Amino acid sequence: MNDLPTVTQFEVFKNRKDILKNPLPFHHHNFQKFGDTFRVNIGYGKSIVFTRDPALIKHVLQKQHKNYQKSPLQTVQLAKYVGHGILTSNGEHWRTHRRMVQPAFHKKKLMGLMGIMQLAIRDALNAIKSDEVNNVPPLMGDLAFQVVARSLFSRNDIERPMQRLQQITESNQKMLIREMRQPYLNWWFYLSGAIKKQLDLSKEGRNILNTIIEDRLRSGREGDDLLDMLLNASYEDGTPMSRNQLLDEVLILFTAGHETTANALSFSLYFLAKQQAIQEKAFQEVTKLDMEEGDIMENLSLLPYVKQCIEEALRLYPPAYVIDRIAVAEDIFEGRTIKKDTMILMSVYELHRYQSFWESPGDFVPERFDKGKGKDFQEYYYPFGAGPRMCVGNNFAMYEMILTVAEVLKRFQLQTDLDTLDINPLISLKPNAIPIKFIKR
Ligand code: HEM
Repeated sequence: MNDLPTVTQFEVFKNRKDILKNPLPFHHHNFQKFGDTFRVNIGYGKSIVFTRDPALIKHVLQKQHKNYQKSPLQTVQLAKYVGHGILTSNGEHWRTHRRMVQPAFHKKKLMGLMGIMQLAIRDALNAIKSDEVNNVPPLMGDLAFQVVARSLFSRNDIERPMQRLQQITESNQKMLIREMRQPYLNWWFYLSGAIKKQLDLSKEGRNILNTIIEDRLRSGREGDDLLDMLLNASYEDGTPMSRNQLLDEVLILFTAGHETTANALSFSLYFLAKQQAIQEKAFQEVTKLDMEEGDIMENLSLLPYVKQCIEEALRLYPPAYVIDRIAVAEDIFEGRTIKKDTMILMSVYELHRYQSFWESPGDFVPERFDKGKGKDFQEYYYPFGAGPRMCVGNNFAMYEMILTVAEVLKRFQLQTDLDTLDINPLISLKPNAIPIKFIKR
């Protein structure tokens, strides 16, 4: 890929302030100028390949996935705070544990979690101040954290330790962002003790989780929750996960499942508040359904329009807005050589807004996901990634989001005066403040 058009280091330097604030316009400008795949020279003889080419994305994530691994951004930098669970590992270690974690997220297993999830969502929504303007992202942050915590431990008497764990998880993310945004200060972060402080916090988080796991084992209680499934998972020789590995996997579920879902929910509620006709259509669907009767999962399948609203929000604002990989060995794509160690950043954000594949890509049109149409987008729609490393919690997240939106619409009419969404692309694509008035129905 050496002959690809290249963004020079000077261009990067010239735009550094804007890139730090929000790199997406810089990416877009370069895609417009250079086409679907280009290189960015980042200095020290290194460069990153950026792409929004669906064929290359499919090649990397699916067809030749064995040749492409997660980059050290996750496997080293993030892993030092949250350990080596399936999100932050590669190779055989990843494969072995993915096989053990995945069954916990099969639809049949999730069915048993729906009641817990619904209660957690209802409790979290009680924090909304009716008939007042609420800032939505922190509310959805608390909700998504509670949903993961209660699905894991099926306990509602551990609010204090869970609040502390949430603080620690969020503080880890903030530190990581500082490290990524200001890599030239990393020596100072180490020297000043900032990293050590963060690592101590991570240890405290692990201790909190360890106490809860010890409690469970001592009590002999069966939770029929995610923790039970992880405790019962075994390697091929029949042995269970070590305590350390179990803690890594539990921490990963909090890390991967909390902020992404919170962001997607915040964006979804924003669009519903902004577009009253769409909100009314979704409300009509929700109001026809008696959520107190019948099986929760079956009820959710009766809310296709609510689902489409979420799918469309995930298209416009995919929380995982870029997916990164590194080539393990040399590879050929469409006659071009991809050298070993090439880092590839796949822009899901750009692909989801690509003029050639989407009609009026900037508009919020849930109808484009009408039943039957969704399949047409398979090649250009990757909110949960693709291939063997596709999000293990995608069904869990979709059920959680449909349930939340349905519960919100049942209780409130949403209104907002916010004209332009202010976004903050960090580890995930995050909204800044989203003020929404929740008018009691
Ligand atoms: C709207 C919500 C979510 C979005 C948009 C999302 C998106 C993604 C994406 C794009 C990946 C693949 C990343 C890559 O290939 O590099 C991923 C992986 C992962 N996600 Fe999610 N996710 C969401 C919710 C969740 C939830 C609720 C959980 C668990 C409770 C979860 C757990 C994971 C895990 C463990 C992985 C790593 C899988 C592996 O590498 O084998 N995610 N997610």
